[in-house]
Amino acid sequence: MEKPILDACCGSRMFWFDKDNPDVVFMDKRDEVCTLSDGQTVIVHPNIVGDFTDMPFPDKSFKLVVFDPPHLVWAGKAANLYKRYGKLDDWQETLRKGIDECFRVLDDYGVLVFKWAETQLKLKTVLKVIGRQPLFGHKRLGTGKTVWLCFMKMPDTFGGGAS
Ligand SMILES: C[S@@+](CC[C@H](N)C(=O)[O-])C[C@H]1O[C@@H](n2cnc3c(N)ncnc32)[C@H](O)[C@@H]1O
Repeated sequence: MEKPILDACCGSRMFWFDKDNPDVVFMDKRDEVCTLSDGQTVIVHPNIVGDFTDMPFPDKSFKLVVFDPPHLVWAGKAANLYKRYGKLDDWQETLRKGIDECFRVLDDYGVLVFKWAETQLKLKTVLKVIGRQPLFGHKRLGTGKTVWLCFMKMPDTFGGGAS
């Protein structure tokens, strides 16, 4: 069986308990090592270098996709946050295409877990742009800025097509 899980923009895999989980395809658009201002090293070494707006996978390839795109729309290239998380250019188009690609590569009834940090853009604004309704997740921020949302690919509702 092919790997059932896709991390569509894995960065340095910080949120993974097992950073080498053999059931996961780790993808990112870069393969590089950067040094932060405090000397920490960030290693981004995906299994596949690929673009989440144009993924190199057939339709319905995965049971679970996790999508944690950059949440910054402006940042200096020397900033630690930029080095660690990157930045979105043309954020509306990029996020819309990214989410659409996540749904395309999900199998019917597959699950999408979307992570967002309300540092510069409000979740409400982002949800309006991506035009899809999460099932559940954080509805408002707690003490941090990060929210997690869960979606499911319903073949009819999301236009994924049951065939
Ligand atoms: C918020 S970080 C991911 C952090 C990661 N979840 C972790 O736990 O370390 C976002 C990542 O998206 C990547 N990225 C940005 N644009 C991309 C694109 N079009 N396709 C694939 N990856 C992209 C960046 O290189 C960056 O590593």
